[in-house]
Amino acid sequence: MNPPGADISQPPLPLRRRLVELLLGGGLLASAASFLYPVLRYIVPPPSADLGADTVVAGKVGDLKPNSGMIFRFGSRPGILIFTADREYRALSATCTHLDCTVQYRDDLHNIWCACHNGMYDLSGRNVSGPPPRPLEAYEVHVQGDEIIVSRRQKA
Ligand code: FES
Repeated sequence: MNPPGADISQPPLPLRRRLVELLLGGGLLASAASFLYPVLRYIVPPPSADLGADTVVAGKVGDLKPNSGMIFRFGSRPGILIFTADREYRALSATCTHLDCTVQYRDDLHNIWCACHNGMYDLSGRNVSGPPPRPLEAYEVHVQGDEIIVSRRQKA
């Protein structure tokens, strides 16, 4: 018996047909989601791993011989730690101020060099030749026990 006002000219869809339509619709949604999710992950950057740390342990005393340098991780960016020929530690940002390549220490020149476009910085981070428009950010270095501690300079 049909309820009053019900359209009796259309027979109800068989249950099997509804189930097939439901499965097809779900499959299309799942396909669209599996396509869109990687695209969105590519477009939206992940949250930055930089926790705003102002101080890191860049290495241990003895890691560097005089007149050498090494890259260390300072938050999400690279830093460069240099042990000069005069046995003095220097630490700077290792991201070139031209186009963000990572710089390296040149023991033959006693300078910091960017291989991308032959940019050159002195040991204080001043840009001395090539295309870099600004100096590298210089950090403070302290030795505590056998740890080399690098800190961002406090802004006045
Ligand atoms: S990126 Fe360093 S000189 Fe161009």
